Amino acid sequence: MTKVIAITGKGGTGKTAVAALLIRSLSKKGQFILAVDADADTNLPETLGCENVKTIGDAKEFLQAEITKPRPDNPDMNKESVLQSKVYEIIEEMPGYDLLVMGRPEGSGCYCYVNNLLRGIMDKLVKNYDLVVIDAEAGLEHFSRKIIRDIDDLIVVTDASRRGFRTAERIHELVNELESNIGSIHVIANKVTDANREKLVKLAEELKLNLIGMIPLDPKIEEMDIKGIPLFEIPDDSVAAVEIENIVKKLGF
Ligand SMILES: Nc1ncnc2c1ncn2[C@@H]1O[C@H](COP(=O)(O)OP(=O)(O)OP(=O)(O)O)[C@@H](O)[C@H]1O
Ligand SMILES: [Mg+2]
Repeated sequence: MTKVIAITGKGGTGKTAVAALLIRSLSKKGQFILAVDADADTNLPETLGCENVKTIGDAKEFLQAEITKPRPDNPDMNKESVLQSKVYEIIEEMPGYDLLVMGRPEGSGCYCYVNNLLRGIMDKLVKNYDLVVIDAEAGLEHFSRKIIRDIDDLIVVTDASRRGFRTAERIHELVNELESNIGSIHVIANKVTDANREKLVKLAEELKLNLIGMIPLDPKIEEMDIKGIPLFEIPDDSVAAVEIENIVKKLGF
């Protein structure tokens, strides 16, 4: 059975960094992973070290245009197979994982038809993998669109602030209200320092958050970011990479 992990949280808290670190750790453990960048402001490819990726957004625009175009030459064009072959073309094969980038938001007009086709294609696609890791956008629009229907583990990333924790609490509440197909919700506090660690543990208890990890503010990540080195290349002994190992154990790997 394919396991689906989605990562969300407030803007700038480190969702993409956590996604990249999880993909790095789990691909090394031999999991065959589909990494999905579901944020319109695409950052995951760069963080993983992939360049010039094509996006589902482009494929959708293509199909939307095809649907509205009269096709006297081929009236029976099978739209699902056209979109499916476009999606398979877009998948970037990297060592240890595949990457799929959702890309730009939809243009004006109704995309219900294309989105319905896409949902069917994604349902089939994810079955090819052991694990799907989704770098979702801040906010929960993504879940209402439900391009990927079932999520086993939703990870909410927060920074080391009361506001970040409050956002995590709200996401918990929203998910329950949406009655979405989400197995478990976990919270990761990111950019934690020794000065705030204990206070954050107490805050998580107060807000009844299921805190599964605290990733330290890592000077190695800051250095790599400035130098433009993909986070995928982080050394195993960096403080963030070490904590990610604890987290993947708690996630059952
Ligand atoms: N543990 C950490 N230590 C140091 N820097 C970090 C850490 N985690 C993330 N960063 C840095 O914080 C910045 C924001 O991280 P990231 O892009 O992962 O956040 P995000 O939540 O995905 O943002 P967005 O909402 O824009 O998608 C980046 O510069 C990243 O390198
Ligand atoms: Mg991001």
